Amino acid sequence: MAADAPLVEFAPAKVNLYLHVTGRRPDGYHLLDSLVTFGAAADRLEIRPAETLRLSVCGPFADHMPADPADNLIIRAAAALRTAFGIERGADLRLEKNLPVASGIGGGSSDAAAAIRGLCRLWMLDPAAPALAPLALALGADVPVCLQGRTVRMQGIGETILPLPALPPIGLVLVNPLVAVATPAVFNARRGDFSVAADWPADPLDMDGLVAALGRTRNDLQAPAVGLAPAIGAVLTRLAGTPGVRLARMSGSGATCFGICPSADTAARAAAEIRAAEPGWWVEAGTCA
Ligand code: C5P
Repeated sequence: MAADAPLVEFAPAKVNLYLHVTGRRPDGYHLLDSLVTFGAAADRLEIRPAETLRLSVCGPFADHMPADPADNLIIRAAAALRTAFGIERGADLRLEKNLPVASGIGGGSSDAAAAIRGLCRLWMLDPAAPALAPLALALGADVPVCLQGRTVRMQGIGETILPLPALPPIGLVLVNPLVAVATPAVFNARRGDFSVAADWPADPLDMDGLVAALGRTRNDLQAPAVGLAPAIGAVLTRLAGTPGVRLARMSGSGATCFGICPSADTAARAAAEIRAAEPGWWVEAGTCA
């Protein structure tokens, strides 16, 4: 590596393939059971050594980030790591913000996880140190799962990570109507009983098995999110009617929705079709972890 070449970490989109809300803690946080995968699009974080901590942001969604850097999850992650490990050095962090902000694909949480991974490399910290799990959870309920960066099952408010066999190779299309929805508002709009955890198969699945198993699950936040932002309903209808899309659903608290396709090529063709029909929407396609 050249002396001035940065460390690079990717912060992939987090996709909740299903999300059951199974309860609510006395502090208001909700208990979840969710199958989480990563991919199709990512933010990119460059890290260079520096005396102090500083962050600059470029990319298509740079202007949508919080104005105060102290509110940024990357700076908060870096500051928390410095405190926990007694680090006195800084870092020059440059984020290319490619994922829409506050959109149900964990952009801020995935950025925080990328910062933790990259700063552990820069500052030579043990990425398996026991202090990291509570540090990640304190930054946000989705940060621990984003630190995994591969397909897992997530429970509790996000602190319980259960390993799963790898998914079959699938293509993912991500579609966001560029309507912001606030996560607490979506949780508050949820009505009805809590769900039970999914009866998810323990054995590896092929594409048909995955689609069938997902068909027995849901995202409990989808109906309340569609109620708050009807554009999400339009995205789901468009995705479901696009050739090659085997299952269409919302991720997290929205507004990003995903389509599952048999391959990355099929997903790319579906994405091109949706982009042509809806030029105002954010559309990406790729594979998943
Ligand atoms: O932890 P994070 O900052 O991502 O959560 C944002 C908000 O989403 C919380 O303040 C809470 O209102 C809601 N939330 C929840 N249950 C979760 C995760 C988030 O109620 N498991």
